[in-house]
Amino acid sequence: MSDLKRPEMILVLDFGAQYSQLIARRVRENNVYCEIWPFNTPLGKIAALRPKGIIFSGGPASVYAPGAPRLDKKIFELGIPILGICYGMQLGALLLGGRVSPARSREYGHTQCRILNRTGLFAGLPPHLTVWMSHGDQVSKISGHFKPLARTETSPYSAIKHRKLPFYGVQFHPEVAHTHQGSKIIRNFLYTICKCSGQWRMKSYLTEAVNRIRQEVGSGKVVCGLSGGIDSVVTAVLIQRAIGRHLTCIFVDNGLLRQDEAKEVIRIFRKNLSIKLIFVDATERFLKKLKGVIDPEKKRKIIGHKFIEVFKAASQQLGRVDYLAQGTLYPDVIESGGAASFEGEPRPDVASGRGPTARIKSHHNVGGLPAQLKFKLVEPLKYLFKDEVRRLGRALELPDEFIKRQPFPGPGLAVRILGKITPERLAILRRADAVVREEITRSGLGDRLWQYFAILLPVSSVGVMGDERTYENTIALRIVESTDGMTADWARLPADLLQKISSRITGEVKGINRVVFDITSKPPGTIEWE
Ligand code: XMP
Repeated sequence: MSDLKRPEMILVLDFGAQYSQLIARRVRENNVYCEIWPFNTPLGKIAALRPKGIIFSGGPASVYAPGAPRLDKKIFELGIPILGICYGMQLGALLLGGRVSPARSREYGHTQCRILNRTGLFAGLPPHLTVWMSHGDQVSKISGHFKPLARTETSPYSAIKHRKLPFYGVQFHPEVAHTHQGSKIIRNFLYTICKCSGQWRMKSYLTEAVNRIRQEVGSGKVVCGLSGGIDSVVTAVLIQRAIGRHLTCIFVDNGLLRQDEAKEVIRIFRKNLSIKLIFVDATERFLKKLKGVIDPEKKRKIIGHKFIEVFKAASQQLGRVDYLAQGTLYPDVIESGGAASFEGEPRPDVASGRGPTARIKSHHNVGGLPAQLKFKLVEPLKYLFKDEVRRLGRALELPDEFIKRQPFPGPGLAVRILGKITPERLAILRRADAVVREEITRSGLGDRLWQYFAILLPVSSVGVMGDERTYENTIALRIVESTDGMTADWARLPADLLQKISSRITGEVKGINRVVFDITSKPPGTIEWE
């Protein structure tokens, strides 16, 4: 990162936990900036980041397992307060002379915890707390160097504190909503222990981001891929604020957009923003390559590669270009297995393209493009979650038309058509999807929904229309609530609304005789079906 003054920050060291990103959110919700780095980030780098505090995340391993993630014990000598959560606590205790063993019975779910010391980390909390546990191992012996802070029936050391070093550990997960007052515990860590000042706001992030881009890019020329979604628009506007006319946006229609989407995006963009825009209609080229392909990852790869090709050709018309701006968000980085660069250099443990988190889907806006184009990368949103990008969009005074747009995946309708992608099937899905959008907008419920869309299934079933037997396709409705897309729940919509959507689709969309409603949360489902 540049030598520009960094905001006060908390560093989360990630040991492969499902919840690392939640920890980061909780910290930022408390007005302290936070970044997640891999557990094996070199000590020198950690010191250079100058965090006010460090949080060791949980992780799936057992501390004694061969190859279990470890870290340099010298981290405890940096004088920076550290909070270890679950695996992070066990590792800290082990490195500082305690012992970890398998628990008699695995603690999982809600557990009652007795607080033994209601100061510091637990200041202002009641003597008994319901906490969320998920562990097989536990700290079984603490050397004389530690003090117990909390216990449960089966775990004598549910929370500990080192007597001399600023190390605290909690066996439970304060970051999940199931732990009552978990946010208060995190707040105590931030304010009482790390002495954070809590100055971080979206407005300050905006100023810092613009300054950082200006410093990084200087008088270089930047090209930005625009999808019409909020991420790429916020990226473009931030960069324009920083470097003005040195930015050009390229909008590629891959033929997989929603009904009238390309026209609409260009209209809103030209009306509201004075940024140079190149539009490329590459529908034919994408659909030709996708012909006959049914495997979801293959579809994503093809679309990713084609996009690179088209984008490359378009950017070559611009003469010299130095930087590529991408609206990569934090969940894209996490769910693609952490394969993103950090300030131009690969993160230590993701040089192999893998972070500690498992790959769920290859989100096509991560990786690929920069290597092919040999541009340097600017990704001003890569530590933000979607709701934070919306707040940043508001701080940038973008119109609601952008801010309220539903997230739409890079591979577009290709991952909402299960099976083969043909112009006919695209047309069916577009019409059904337009009905869903119209009805949700009309109901006024759109604001509380994360996404609402249709999926075309490769399933035909028997129906009856008039006196005729039909044998046609099925549309699934995916309508979910979420704050960041990392977890989601299906929306409990009024039956009348669902009825209206269903009868309009079966009545208006030729080729569909059945509509089903997806009632799967994420996890275990993902939001998109592919
Ligand atoms: P999943 O399906 O992984 O989706 O639960 C989480 C959120 O990410 C969006 N999504 C994508 N966005 N490129 C994107 O820019 C992609 O390849 C991609 N795949 C999924 C999805 O719409 C949801 O909001």
